[in-house]
Amino acid sequence: MERNSNQPLYLRIAERMEAMIDAGSLRAGDRIPSIRHSSVQHQVSIPTVMQAYSVLESRRLIEARPKSGFYVRPRLSKTLRQPVASKRKPSVASLAAFASVLSVIQDVNDPSLVPLGAAVPGDELLPMKKLGQLTSALIRKTKGICLRYDPVPGCLLMRKELSKRSLDWGCGFDAGDFVITLGASEALHLALLAVTRPGDTVLVESPTYYGTLNLLAQLKLKVIAVPASSGDGLDMNAVKEALNTHTVAAMLVIPNFSNPIGSLMPLANRRELLELAEKHGIPIIEDDIYGDLPHEGPRPHCLKSLDQEGRVILCGSFSKTLAPGFRVGYIVAGKFQQRVMELKNAFNLGGPPLPGLTIAEFLRTGGYERHLRRLCHTYRHQVCKMRETVAEAFPEGTKLSNPSGGFVLWLELPRSTDVLAVFREARATGISFAPGPLFSPNGSFKNCMRLSCGSPWTPRIESALGSLAGIVRTLQSTQLT
Ligand SMILES: Cc1ncc(COP(=O)(O)O)c(C=O)c1O
Repeated sequence: MERNSNQPLYLRIAERMEAMIDAGSLRAGDRIPSIRHSSVQHQVSIPTVMQAYSVLESRRLIEARPKSGFYVRPRLSKTLRQPVASKRKPSVASLAAFASVLSVIQDVNDPSLVPLGAAVPGDELLPMKKLGQLTSALIRKTKGICLRYDPVPGCLLMRKELSKRSLDWGCGFDAGDFVITLGASEALHLALLAVTRPGDTVLVESPTYYGTLNLLAQLKLKVIAVPASSGDGLDMNAVKEALNTHTVAAMLVIPNFSNPIGSLMPLANRRELLELAEKHGIPIIEDDIYGDLPHEGPRPHCLKSLDQEGRVILCGSFSKTLAPGFRVGYIVAGKFQQRVMELKNAFNLGGPPLPGLTIAEFLRTGGYERHLRRLCHTYRHQVCKMRETVAEAFPEGTKLSNPSGGFVLWLELPRSTDVLAVFREARATGISFAPGPLFSPNGSFKNCMRLSCGSPWTPRIESALGSLAGIVRTLQSTQLT
């Protein structure tokens, strides 16, 4: 065991074992080495191992069995079922009901509350120091360039770096295929404006990211929300039926680790979606903002990688991986690129050069890969912890997503739960989360919530989850009496 780290030795031993449990190398029911054995193995004192084991016990990862030793505890989260796609037939909605819950967005994002609401990475997880150094060096080196306009399509260095990265997405784009945007939000905005007119209907996943619903509402678009499950995402039969029975102007999907349900669309469904788009002659807007965040293994390819006709408009950003406040995003709009550039030019003449240059430099010098490896590992750990705690604390019958990437969890609570009442109560005790109706155009998911696992796992977060579960239980029992 390395001795020159700032972390106490007992904690490092505990975390190494925890990582083995998380990775499945140590499984429920396995006996872990005795205290004496571990002390020899790690060359540390017996009290140090005892302290490490007591941390693991308090994290409910191991348990002592009298006269027998320490064992890995069963993972309760494994027994929870995942939410499934609703069976309800989708219909076209005007987003009026969605507008009525919009007011809670501020509380979801309120930084003074325990951060289970906004899907943002905790500050501690971002390479703040390195980005700061790069920013000051760039201001010095590039003299006035950072103060000038950066005309559309935006920062060439950034587009060259994106072009290299796109090989990992299964795409191989040129720098000229990209337009740099103000986050994925602007990319989605430009994509929607390029392919729809007010009054048109857009097909989305149900549930889907509330920012998208907000955007559709502001653009006076209608929506048809097609049921999606936390495993495979969109129910393809329901997509087919929706396209056969309604006039749809575009589909907007999140195939890689969707927000809020964390689904990963299987390859066969991606192919089918493209065939359907072709058959009905409609474009697909792909939101790939979580694609860089698999919990293990290689990054999933983009839907766009299967697109032969320039029908898919790809949108993404560095908000979930590097710096949400830099507002650096991108769009690959295929045959709609010229229109997207005209729109972007009309709106803001381009973006600020400094954030794009800084991220491009971070990517160019290889920092991003290392950072991503660490970040994906951390998100996986945080998601694991949150699932385990939810499984222990929330009422029986709770269903919970099990995402293989990203950092949000979707909970379906027992049917009688009024999640907006839970939200108000939680808000009053200083806890935020995102209530289910925010993810629906017509106020569905009244018994669902999204929890963000973006912040490092701390006793404060653990205890907030316990309080949240307490609120759910209390409100349930008062509703039943
Ligand atoms: C699915 C999805 N798309 C888009 C966005 C907006 O991202 P950006 O900060 O890049 O505008 C978010 C942010 O939460 C998101 O979750």
